[in-house]
Amino acid sequence: KDLYGDSRQNSEGVEFGCAAERNLLTSGMAKTTAPFTEAAPLGAGLKPSGDANPVFAPMDGSTKVGTVRFADSETARLAVENAQKGFEKWSRRPVEERAAAIDKVGDLLEANRDRLMTILSLEAGKCLTDGIAEIREAVDFCRYYAAEARNLFGEGKLMPGPTGEENRYRYRGRGVFVCISPWNFPLAIFLGQISAALMAGNAVVAKPAEQTPLIAYETAKLMYQAGIPEDVFYLLPGEGDVGAALTSHPAVAGVAFTGSTETAWLINGTLAAKRGPIVPLVAETGGINAMIVDATALPEQVCDDVMMSAFRSAGQRCSALRLLYVQEDVADHLLDMLEGAAKELSLGDPRLPSTDIGPVIDEEARDNILSHVDDMKESQKLRYAGKTPHGKLANGSWVAPHIIELDKAEALTREVFGPVLHVVRYKAGDLDKVLNQIAGTGYGLTLGVHSRIDATVKKVVDRLSVGNVYVNRNTIGAVVGTQPFGGSGLSGTGPKAGGPAYLYRFALEQVVSINT
Ligand code: SER
Repeated sequence: KDLYGDSRQNSEGVEFGCAAERNLLTSGMAKTTAPFTEAAPLGAGLKPSGDANPVFAPMDGSTKVGTVRFADSETARLAVENAQKGFEKWSRRPVEERAAAIDKVGDLLEANRDRLMTILSLEAGKCLTDGIAEIREAVDFCRYYAAEARNLFGEGKLMPGPTGEENRYRYRGRGVFVCISPWNFPLAIFLGQISAALMAGNAVVAKPAEQTPLIAYETAKLMYQAGIPEDVFYLLPGEGDVGAALTSHPAVAGVAFTGSTETAWLINGTLAAKRGPIVPLVAETGGINAMIVDATALPEQVCDDVMMSAFRSAGQRCSALRLLYVQEDVADHLLDMLEGAAKELSLGDPRLPSTDIGPVIDEEARDNILSHVDDMKESQKLRYAGKTPHGKLANGSWVAPHIIELDKAEALTREVFGPVLHVVRYKAGDLDKVLNQIAGTGYGLTLGVHSRIDATVKKVVDRLSVGNVYVNRNTIGAVVGTQPFGGSGLSGTGPKAGGPAYLYRFALEQVVSINT
């Protein structure tokens, strides 16, 4: 057991360098054929209604992956009210029973890996390495929160002290938690929020991102199969109106949200305006994440880490690198290397092992990213623009990797959620100015620093209130239970997902004092 009582093992991955392992995965995936899933609201007392809308793969805009019936605000109201009844029973179940059910969800994810992978690739455009990492993260969340709950939510702790009574300090569920999750980790973040809320003893009404209802629906069915009752977990595929109906419902006991800072503000406002119980918001948002590279850094390692941080998952990670600060003495050399490396990245069908970068999530995302690139071209220097796929994939939502050199860091004013790396040079001796600029964005999610000078690293780490700082490595792929993930300021409320403080925010404290 570690310091926090975590005795789990993280889930195992796929050795992509090994042909046998790779082929086992791709042949398993090939057995799942489209269209797969007919998603609809799920949970006790809900009836599917509304039209079945087709869901198409972003890689070509024409492969049908399934259909979805969206919930409406009336269904949202009903789900919260029914879940209140489920909560009464669920919160009284022994923690071991709840934890065993969530552990089982992790087992079922592993057992259904190939099918889930195919849906992740087609619906969310995840390439193989990203999809496997996502399934592993989802499994780890389940097992981590189950293990944490076993430690925290048992009989409670006897408190010492002078009163002569039995004072027992314990945690219990709050009620119905609303979980609103994003499309960029439509399995791992979706299930991370839900498993934490359930493990803390809550019932859950979950609204997955409207772009990725199918993987959420498949996962929800596995949750029921694992023993989570249908009146304890509700799935509401839906659009913004459903989110608004859920967060404004007076009986909601808390909200977990991952997405944009703007939506987090909106939810915060909705919760604050209610005249009822004052409830917590756990929000994880984005960032204008930076990396600082000084002249002592190893260029080959920087190049590899920048490629991973900026372009992996087509830059659609909240942890992704957006702004690279390079000491001017090494900037020309490093920029040449980055352009050379970016040229090697292959865009294509995310189900193929040869693909490095899949599509972005939809046409709206593509247009938004490309309009940013167009604006930047006017005033800044476009150093590199890759090529998008032709032929059968020509109509997909593609954005090739771009590298833009800025004349000053302030030219980047917003988070651009795609494979666009901005680079700016800084002078030796200007590190304080760089740190002030990064702090001045108001975000604080991830930060990279590449330097072989210990004092520089210490200064960067100590100066900035950034949630996850990565030294001489890439800035993505936080590991559950090892690298708890989440930021501060405009990047979110904390506590960190996959960390020892997370479950507390979903729970109520209670002290029972018995005059013995
Ligand atoms: N947790 C993810 C990562 O670390 C980002 O959402 O990349």
